[in-house]
Formats: sequence, structure tokens, C-alpha cells
Amino acid sequence: MKFIGDQIAIGEIPVTQLAEQYGTPLYVYDEQKIRKNFRKVSNAFSKYYPDFKMFFAVKACNNPAIVNILRQEGAGADCASVNEILLAKYVGLGGENVMFSGNFLSDDDIKQGLESGVIFNLDDISILPRLLKFGKPEMLSFRVNPGYGKSNVGEYVTNAGPNAKFGIHPDKVLDAYRMAKEAGVKRFGAHMMTGSCITDAEYFPFVTGLLMDIIGKTSKELGIDFEFVDLGGGLGIPYKPGEPALDLDKAASLTAEMFRKKSEEYGMKPPQLKMEPARYFVGNAGWIIGRVHSIKESYKKIAGTDVGMNTLARPAMYGSYHHIYVNGKENEPRKSIGLCGQLCENTDFWVKERDLPASLAEGDLIVVENAGAYGFGMSYQYNGRLRPAEVLVNGTQAELIRARENFDDMIRHTFVPSHLKS
Ligand code: LLP
Repeated sequence: MKFIGDQIAIGEIPVTQLAEQYGTPLYVYDEQKIRKNFRKVSNAFSKYYPDFKMFFAVKACNNPAIVNILRQEGAGADCASVNEILLAKYVGLGGENVMFSGNFLSDDDIKQGLESGVIFNLDDISILPRLLKFGKPEMLSFRVNPGYGKSNVGEYVTNAGPNAKFGIHPDKVLDAYRMAKEAGVKRFGAHMMTGSCITDAEYFPFVTGLLMDIIGKTSKELGIDFEFVDLGGGLGIPYKPGEPALDLDKAASLTAEMFRKKSEEYGMKPPQLKMEPARYFVGNAGWIIGRVHSIKESYKKIAGTDVGMNTLARPAMYGSYHHIYVNGKENEPRKSIGLCGQLCENTDFWVKERDLPASLAEGDLIVVENAGAYGFGMSYQYNGRLRPAEVLVNGTQAELIRARENFDDMIRHTFVPSHLKS
């Protein structure tokens, strides 16, 4: 995103043009920025640990065009469900380029996961006997809860530690791998995903140390090699202006150092280092453009826009901050204004007060920043307010990559029993 005078552009395209052509609310992604973000992480980590591979956690942004960009850059896919595996396959990823890290899987999930031939990453020891009923994967990984996690988004996305639903308790990790080895599994990996959006560089080596202590002992005791260790995602981005960014080089160098040190300490054959970032690749490469439809002078001044909790759930769900720009008015005097969407829910009043241009008026365009991760993917249909369109910008080119939903989409897959039709 950039300013041309007081006008906002994404890539080289003014947001006025995008809004005119595709309507609002509109998700817009910048292809060049996604590529740059990927390369930043890839270069930082492979500089310190060359045997490094990344998987894009497709849950953050599941548009096939976006997943294809990351595939072209060299990423595999991290999938949370069978449908996400199908999405990965749809863009040409499969086998060991796909990790299946599902949670509380059904028998069907397990069967289809096995048949898909991707890397199975089990969230608990209790799933192993169920999996073995259907088949034996050649390679298996377990998601370890190393006992600690954190997140800038707070408890909501702290995915490890005593209050998390994810991963195997450290005391059960040895038994899990023993059971897998005794069942004849030949190749092993290990995984953790302890929290999302962390901008503290020292956190990454710290949790890496916790995981390596657990699996290092396992490797020694069972005499198994870990072909890979996957540290999950979690690389954070700043959301508030002035918030410090993650020092990626520091995170990479300290993590690689810890990884090497612990591998040596436990006499492990150096495993491949894997990570599954998502927010860092796409978060700041996506925006929502919305239009102000109405201004209300009530107890407060409130601007009603077509960006609401249905299109961007994070503020209402987690109290998350997303910065908002007003096209053409950023240099004007400011005033405290509330901002909300169009739903019949008061949580849709997602900015209670913010200093915004005092002259904010009907017809103005707002641009909401850092909406590329967990934006469209968490949007939903409610009040008949349907999901927005998605557009990909590459320099001066813009292409529609997902059509705006319409009424047919709203009633698709519904049936009215005949006795209700008279
Ligand atoms: N790997 C696994 C197994 C995950 O569950 C996740 C995200 C990632 C990788 C990618 O993590 P990242 O690099 O984006 O931190 N909806 C929340 C975030 C939920 C994160 C879920 N797991 C939000 O909007 O902040």
C-alpha cells in the first residue's frame, strides 16, 4: 500500500479504481509483497540453517491463487482438515510437501488423511491406535505441547501450555513414538505450534529448546532419528503503528543456534528444520477496502461501513486492532469517531473510538490494514451480508481471484421439504 498524494494505492492501483471495478467490501492482496515476505523468512532461516523448509498454513488465507504464489516460491502446505489437503492437491502440492495437522480427528478424517499420502502429524497419542486400524504410514510426526506458549493476540491464540487443546503432553511423547516404532513406522518427525503472532525474537529459540529437550531424550531412548522438526508458525507482525516488528534475523540465528546445540547434545542426526508461517507471509499483504454508507450523530459519532465482523472477524473475536486509513483524507484534522459494520449485533461496533479524519463522510473509502491473514478465511454469511470478493494485485494488474457471493450462494445446499411449500 502506498500514498500517491492523498490517494491510497495497492501495488500501483488506486483503491478508488479497485472499489469502482469490483465493489466493496473487497479483499485485496499484493502478490509482490507476499513473495517478498516469503523470501525474507526463507533467506533469514536458511542463512543460519540451510536444511530449512517451509509450509504455508493455508487456514490463514485459502484462496488457491494465494496458495499457488507460495507454492511457486517453494512452500509446501500445512493443512488442518481433509478439505485443506484437497486444496493443496488442487494447486499441485502433495506427498511430503503437505503436512496434515488436524485436531480431534474423526475416523473419516484419519482414513482420508492416510489415503492422501501426506505427512500425518498426530495431535495426541490416543489417535495412533485408531490410525493403525486403517493403515500404517511410512512417516509419522506428533504435535508436542512443550508446556509453554504465548501470543500477541492473547490467550485466544496461545496454542500450547496447560490451557491449550493442542498437542501431546510432554510425559506422553516417549510412549507415543515407542508405540509408533513398535507398530513398524520407519520414519519420524516432530512438530509444535505454540502460539500465533509473536514479535519477541527470543521466544523462538526458547520454545525450540523446550521441544528439543523432549524429543532429544526420545531419540536417544528409542534409538530413532527425527528426519525433521517443525517449529510451527507464530512469526508475528505489528498491527499498531509504532509497534516494534519481529527481528527476523535474530529469531533465525538464535533458533538455529539452539536447534544445532540441542541436536548435538542429544547426539541426533541433524534433522531438517521446518516451519509453517502464515501470518508473516500474507498478513500485511492483504487489505479490505470498505465504503462508508452512513454517518450517525448519536451518543457518539458513528460511521457505518460495509466492513464488519462478518467480513473481518478478528476485532470482534479477539479485540484485535487493525489500522484504518481513509482515502483522500489522511492529512486532515482528526476527531474521535466510532466505526461499525452493518450487522444486527453490537459486537459489530468494532471500533468504539478512534481518531479518524473529522470530515469522514458518506461515500468515503476506508482501507483496513493487515487483513491478509485470518481475514477472508474467517468471514461468514450472517444477516444476508455475504462474503466479499478477493482481488490480486501485481504491480499495475488486478485480477479477480474470488467472486463476491450472491443470493444463490446464500441458499445453495438448502432444501425446503414439499409440505412447507403450500
Ligand atoms: N501451523 C499450525 C498447526 C497452525 O495451527 C497455525 C495457525 C499455523 C501453523 C500458522 O501460524 P501463524 O504463522 O499464522 O502464526 N485466527 C487467529 C490465529 C489462529 C492461528 C491458528 N493456527 C488470528 O486471527 O490471530
